[in-house]
Amino acid sequence: MPEKENTGRESARKLLDFIQKSPDSFHAAENAAEMLRKHGFARLREDRPWEISPGGDYYVMRNGSSLIAFSIPEQSFSGFQIICSHTDSPSFKIKAVPELQGNGYIRLNVEKYGGAILAPWFDRPLSAAGRLLVRTPNGVNSVLVNIDRDLLIIPSLAIHLNREANDGYKYRIQKDLCPLYAEAAQGRTFLSLAAGEAGVREEDLLGADLCLYNRQKGTFLGAEGEFIASPRLDDLQCLFSSLQGFLRAENSRSIRMFCAFDNEEVGSRSRQGAASTFLPYTLERIVRGIGGGREKLMTALASSFIISADNAHAVHPAYPEKSDAENRPRMNGGIVIKYNAGQKYTTDARSAAVVKLLCERAEVPWQTYVNHSDVAGGSTLGNILNAQVSPYTVDIGLAQLAMHSPCETAGARDGRYLELMAEEFYSSYLLADENENLTLVRA
Ligand code: CO
Repeated sequence: MPEKENTGRESARKLLDFIQKSPDSFHAAENAAEMLRKHGFARLREDRPWEISPGGDYYVMRNGSSLIAFSIPEQSFSGFQIICSHTDSPSFKIKAVPELQGNGYIRLNVEKYGGAILAPWFDRPLSAAGRLLVRTPNGVNSVLVNIDRDLLIIPSLAIHLNREANDGYKYRIQKDLCPLYAEAAQGRTFLSLAAGEAGVREEDLLGADLCLYNRQKGTFLGAEGEFIASPRLDDLQCLFSSLQGFLRAENSRSIRMFCAFDNEEVGSRSRQGAASTFLPYTLERIVRGIGGGREKLMTALASSFIISADNAHAVHPAYPEKSDAENRPRMNGGIVIKYNAGQKYTTDARSAAVVKLLCERAEVPWQTYVNHSDVAGGSTLGNILNAQVSPYTVDIGLAQLAMHSPCETAGARDGRYLELMAEEFYSSYLLADENENLTLVRA
């Protein structure tokens, strides 16, 4: 087995461990922050003046679920090299009053978060994770919680009671998707259990942002272990792989940024989403922090590049007719460059050319995705970010099947490809001439 394949497997194993520790957007952001701290990154607060200096490595969080990390070169910089991914995944959010009583049982009351595929949530062990808001003497604290055991299940209706179960079934969230939590006779409320797990008192709880998650651990599949199956590959595969490349890169001439936003699955329009002020304010504060003004910010942005990294649809072997005839990625085929004439993806010929160049230099394969012209397709971060800040931008991803299922399938080697491409990207800087011809310099 060639060296690259071995390290691909090692990267995938680390990715699966990261995903298992990250059942929700809060844990994903916190685990990314933990890796940054281990690499010497210092935390900045949005509510304090920033003291930053050339050569420094920093990160800042918003809401505990979105994160931006950046490294400032020692010498003057030309622009920003940015990769963005998202921390959230489709799930079910537990409602404010969480319990439903009836028929001798307690179920949890949930609403859908994002465009989940519903059927695979049934009949498998689930649990809940997120954050609790806890009363303090003078205010309220946020505490992460993961009830790290098999706790919940959404049972199917037996086929004897629904003979049409295999004929296509329309699920109703309120009726069908509320998971079984307990026997009514037992006394432990769900919130007391969550509070106990977090080490806080139930009477001090003032709120909770909790969602369901699939307990299944990620695993290798296929004759040679060439596939991985795991929850939340969209988009933690891109998040983790781009973070690995970010942490390994060195760059003397551009500011490297790693961004991970919450709420992509519900349109990014939240305080911490990609459509918020988080990225533009951070860019401005970095430039001001190292003594630059608005003119420096504008000129830097004009020679900056954003890679919006969010997973892509591999051709499904049973549904090839859903893919374009030629622009149909496959798992383990490398970086997927995503195009859409309607600009749901920001990629144009120029930004795609930059990615192809990066892939060539990193010696990783690339492939192209364009929707089948009669299939609507999805959307992602890139064009939302471009409404905030507008450097050169591209949309890429890694090919996967079953997107938005609680268990998704991807290629075991592709994460490593993105790590290598991201490292190459972060180790380079961009120069543009008056005709927007680009030079990509290895720093
Ligand atoms: Co996604």
